[in-house]
Amino acid sequence: MTEDDKKALEGLFVNSQAFLPPRFFYNSLGGLLFEAITRLEEYTPTKDELSIFQNRIREIKKILPSDICLIDLGAGNCSKAEKILPEVCPEVFLAVDLPSKFFRNSVTRLKNSLRNQKIYALEKDFTSGLFLSEIARIVGDAIYHLDKVLFFPGSTIGNYSPIDAKNFLMSIDHDSIIIGVDLIKPEREMISAYDDSLGVTAAFNKNALLHANALLGTDFEVGNWSHKAIYNSSKSRIEMHLVAKSTHPVSSPFGKRVFSKGESIHTENSHKYSLESFKNLLLGSGYVDIYDFLHPSNRYGVFVAKRNKQS
Ligand code: TRP
Repeated sequence: MTEDDKKALEGLFVNSQAFLPPRFFYNSLGGLLFEAITRLEEYTPTKDELSIFQNRIREIKKILPSDICLIDLGAGNCSKAEKILPEVCPEVFLAVDLPSKFFRNSVTRLKNSLRNQKIYALEKDFTSGLFLSEIARIVGDAIYHLDKVLFFPGSTIGNYSPIDAKNFLMSIDHDSIIIGVDLIKPEREMISAYDDSLGVTAAFNKNALLHANALLGTDFEVGNWSHKAIYNSSKSRIEMHLVAKSTHPVSSPFGKRVFSKGESIHTENSHKYSLESFKNLLLGSGYVDIYDFLHPSNRYGVFVAKRNKQS
């Protein structure tokens, strides 16, 4: 068991508010379930973002430096990369995501469909940071001669608190960023995006328990838990929880915990921003020359910005 797995067990069995890190969503089944979420009528971010890229990628390309390494954080099924690479044409493309067969297969498919593009993959939980030396190990010394452009779509930044988002962005060595973020919209729409009528998001959330059983040796029973999504307006975020349907014990290699009926495991936050509040986050994180590309519905935005080398 890794140190990170031990920390995850502590979060589940010791913290008064139990918490499971988001990496547990993404085993092979989780990857497929997330892909299904992106196709739900209720979940608009992926479709809005795609239409922004389809309509505005030429404008975005013009703002970017010329010789670049594009670093895709959370590349997943690589479908976004596949859409933008033929327009952006970076010297080097690096897909980063958690280790999984799902991700490896996606990168192989991408390589087959874009044979003239240099494509590399790095299997890593980038939420804990990303060092230039790790990138150089995969890409080679070419990285030192290229401008590094982070490609951070999918509103993954919203899964960090604003302070953690700033610390995360400041911890990664890069020159520019293309970043997508989900914007504040009517509460009903935000909640149904995370509590869809088919129950796909509920399955995605509960699957994290199965993944925990596989990795941590716990014995969660999915049937004992229900999915809950709420909007916390004071923090501008959707919170995802798994709520115990009855009082019952769960065991782990280090002992057991009795979860009371109604007690929850907090599994994810998804922060929502306004145009202004996100620009301020970027400014506060050391970016300059910030351009925004909003979806006509104003539900989603893509931002392109440059790192201020003076700061
Ligand atoms: N970054 C995505 C988001 O916050 C991930 C996501 C979508 C998600 N649906 C989810 C994460 C449900 C956990 C549970 O929108």
